[in-house]
Amino acid sequence: MPLLHTLLTTFLAAAAAAASTTALAASTTTTFPSTLNITTLTAHNNQSVLECWALDPGYSTSTQAGVSGTAMLNLGSVTNNATNLLIPGEYDGGRHNAPTNQWVIFLSGVAHITLPNSTDDAWIVGGKNGAILALDTAEVSALGHYTTYPTEESTVALEIALKEIPGHRVLHSGACGEGELL
Ligand SMILES: *[C@@H]1O[C@H](CO)[C@@H](O)[C@H](O)[C@H]1NC(C)=O
Ligand SMILES: *[C@@H]1O[C@H](CO)[C@@H](O)[C@H](O)[C@H]1NC(C)=O
Ligand SMILES: *[C@@H]1O[C@H](CO)[C@@H](O)[C@H](O)[C@H]1NC(C)=O
Ligand SMILES: *[C@@H]1O[C@H](CO)[C@@H](O)[C@H](O)[C@H]1NC(C)=O
Repeated sequence: MPLLHTLLTTFLAAAAAAASTTALAASTTTTFPSTLNITTLTAHNNQSVLECWALDPGYSTSTQAGVSGTAMLNLGSVTNNATNLLIPGEYDGGRHNAPTNQWVIFLSGVAHITLPNSTDDAWIVGGKNGAILALDTAEVSALGHYTTYPTEESTVALEIALKEIPGHRVLHSGACGEGELL
């Protein structure tokens, strides 16, 4: 069940009273999804698989200065150095394992992930739904996965190594579908 967060009401009332000239957001009510669903490269029986995971816990209301009242979700505890990658268009990353358990956050471009032992695949478009979990390290997957960047657009990606795998529920095998994303 999606959680409904009614936001900004207090702020809007106060702001409207204080300054009629202030430009305000069009809507006074915003609906947030209950959680973020993430396409995950994991492994079973020494083979990489794709799954759609719902992060758990899901969104809560932030009290952080600057984003107070907005929806916030924990991405887990990270470690090591984060990396920025610039990948040209039409690049073939070949077959490989995740170097470590990590977030890979695609900001632009298109990545196509395929598997040696399954017909499942994932198309990851850079942007707000560009984050995946890559967990098929050599310890758990003999052959890893393939990644290609088949469009002409270059890909900007961030790799952020994880201290531990974030809490989650497995929604289903295969990549998350469009209706499950932001
Ligand atoms: C992280 O980056 C620093 C500075 O470049 C480097 O000295 C260090 O070895 C890196 N750590 C790891 C684990 O790669
Ligand atoms: C997995 O795929 C590899 C490479 O295509 C193949 O050699 C191997 O037999 C497959 N393993 C299974 C269990 O299907
Ligand atoms: C996974 O497969 C590799 C290559 O076949 C093998 O060396 C390794 O022992 C296997 N690991 C497990 C946990 O079965
Ligand atoms: C993620 O999946 C859950 C459970 O199916 C759903 O309630 C939620 O709305 C989804 N999140 C997004 C962003 O679609």
